[in-house]
Parts: sequence; structure tokens; C-alpha cells
Amino acid sequence: MLVLGIETTCDETAAAVVERSDAGAGRILSDVVLSQINEHAAFGGVVPEIAARAHVEALDVIIARAMGEAQVGFAAIDGIAAAAGPGLIGGVIVGLTTAKAIALVTEKPLIAVNHLEAHALTARLTDAVPFPYCLFLASGGHTQIVAVLGVGNYARLGTTLDDAIGEAFDKTAKLLGLGYPGGPLVEKEALAGNASRFALPRPMLGRAHADFSLSGLKTALRLEAERIAPLADEDVRDLCASFQQSIVDVVADRLRCGLKAFRERYGKPTALVAAGGVAANEAIRKVLHRIALEAGTELVVPPPQLCTDNGAMIAWAGAERLALGLTDTLETPPHARWPLSDVRGVAPAAPPAEAAGAAQESKID
Ligand code: KG4
Ligand code: ZN
Repeated sequence: MLVLGIETTCDETAAAVVERSDAGAGRILSDVVLSQINEHAAFGGVVPEIAARAHVEALDVIIARAMGEAQVGFAAIDGIAAAAGPGLIGGVIVGLTTAKAIALVTEKPLIAVNHLEAHALTARLTDAVPFPYCLFLASGGHTQIVAVLGVGNYARLGTTLDDAIGEAFDKTAKLLGLGYPGGPLVEKEALAGNASRFALPRPMLGRAHADFSLSGLKTALRLEAERIAPLADEDVRDLCASFQQSIVDVVADRLRCGLKAFRERYGKPTALVAAGGVAANEAIRKVLHRIALEAGTELVVPPPQLCTDNGAMIAWAGAERLALGLTDTLETPPHARWPLSDVRGVAPAAPPAEAAGAAQESKID
């Protein structure tokens, strides 16, 4: 089965062709990603209107290149998948409408993919991870701990109540004048800094639930920076190191709680899977490894280019859905918000009676 996937929910215009064998093995035939970082850098973050226009200008060329690199024509494609949200609505409309047009003309099925579901299922494309597994998704827009129980069957165990982790890195970089996107820049400064110089808070540490809250950390960092201003290079390095250490401690604690909840409700996960741009951070990777070991499971991190936004993950999620007959009509709407718990799947087996109540609770966005 061959699926074309289209991704336009944020600041990457991406298209890919992915193959899924009858046995469920995945293979990427092409994966073309055009980043808009340069268009947004001057603003220190993604500007939705600029993003939508850039998607319109680039998408047809990116799709043509993905088809060309895969060396297939539309006649050989079995389904057209597009991210239908959640994301910046202008960009989502561009990708989904383009996919609908191709589906209409080629008379192939349309698959409207949830962007978070695509991140969640990537580990099955790269590492054939069996269900159920625990996903830690941390990007510029999302921070979630999710029980991935099957295609279209997800239970959120934890989420952020305010900023996403990547967003916190980006805001820290902006505050310290480092540039955009901030994650890699803060990580680089942190490497040479003293992590114990500033006593920054570890929000939510010790709480029984698995939610995150990062805005207090952001404020504490700003107050410290203002207190010691003007900042010397060493101050910036120490602030970055202290900030990153606080994030690492919070991630470890929240994941321990998330994995505990997972085990209580669904048994032992087959893996701890990390996705999203933040998974590129070495210090965070290291702690994820430790937490997975502690929980008696293994850490799976797809390669960096598949952790960040890309078309292959959309194509793969589309293929997994198409294989189960989960296709969509041309009336399918784009979504700015679309919690994983609202994603349609095949009817799951009934959960054990005592777990049903708990699982239900976590399905609130
Ligand atoms: O998944 P992604 O490429 O895009 C979406 O947000 O969907 O993630 C980008 C985010 C940015 O906030 C960026 O600062 C963060 O991931 N990031 C990092 C690192 N590399 C990227 N954060 C911390 N350390 C890094 N090395
Ligand atoms: Zn993403």
C-alpha cells in the first residue's frame, strides 16, 4: 500500500510517499520538508498568516518533488493523507484542501490525519513498536504523555496546563537574546554553564498526576535575569544550564507519574517513545533513557528528522488508518483544536471494569 502524506499545520511544508506492507512494515520512499524558519526568524516565533501564505506558495512543488523522488505516479497511490489539525488553521486548510483536490481528481480515498496521532504512530514506522506504548510528545506546541493503545485509540495521561516545553525553550532564548528556534541554542549555552547557580522552581514536582506547568519557571527565569542585568556571557550560560536542569528534573518526575498511571491502567508498556523537536535535546534524551530503564521498558526515539514535523509521519498514519478502512469524506473539516481523545478508531476491546472509569477521566482535553 502506497500513501501520499501532506503536512502543513505549523511552519513546515512537507510531503512524503510511504509504503506499508500487508504485514505492517513501513518504508519511506520520499520525505520532502521545506522549513519556513527564515520567514519567521525576524519575529521570534511563527506568524500564522505568513505560514499560511508560504504553504500556498510551496505545497504543489513539494508534492511534485515527493512524487518524483518516490518515482511513482498518482495511479500507483492508494490513499491521500493530510494533517487535518490540530494546528494553525490557515495552514491546515491549505494542506487538507490540496489533499481533497488530489483525492477527488484521482478518485483515491482521503485520510484526514490528526497531527498528534501521526507523531504517536511514527515509532511503528521506524521501529515497528507494538501496542500498547507510552508516548512522550514534546514540541513547540505540545507537551503530552499519551497511552497509545491502538490506531485511533489514545488516552492522554498528562498535558501542559500552560506553555509547551519547546515553547519554554524558545521564550528563554528570546529573553536571553539568543535567537529562534531557541531549543538548540539554549542547549548549546547550557553545555558550558553552571546548572546549580540559579535556584529555579520545578513546577508540579511530586504531584500524583502527570501534568506539566511551565509558566512559573519562565517567570522565575525572567526575574533572575532582570535581577542580575546586564547579562555577561557567563550569566547567559548559567541561566540556560539552570533552566535546562529544571526542565530535565520536571520531565523525569512527570514521566515517572505518567508511566505509573500507564501501568495501573494498561499494564506494562512495550516502550517509552519520544517524539517532537525537544527529543533532540541530549540532556532530556539522557533522562528519558534512565526513566525507561527504571520502568523496565526501553526508550525508542525515532531519528531527528522524523521526530520533528514531516510528511512521512502523516503518510504512515494515513496508511495505518487506510489498512483498517478508516477513510474520510470530502466534507471532513479542518480543525484548529483536535484532542487525541476525539480521534476515531475501530471499536477497541472493552477495558477491564476497574480501569474504565480512570481511562474515561483522562479523555477530557
Ligand atoms: O516538533 P517541532 O520541530 O515542531 C513543532 O513545534 O511542532 O519542535 C520544535 C520545538 C521548538 O520549540 C524548538 O525550540 C524545540 O522543539 N527544540 C528543542 C531542541 N531542538 C528543538 N528544545 C530543546 N532542545 C533542543 N535541542
Ligand atoms: Zn508536530
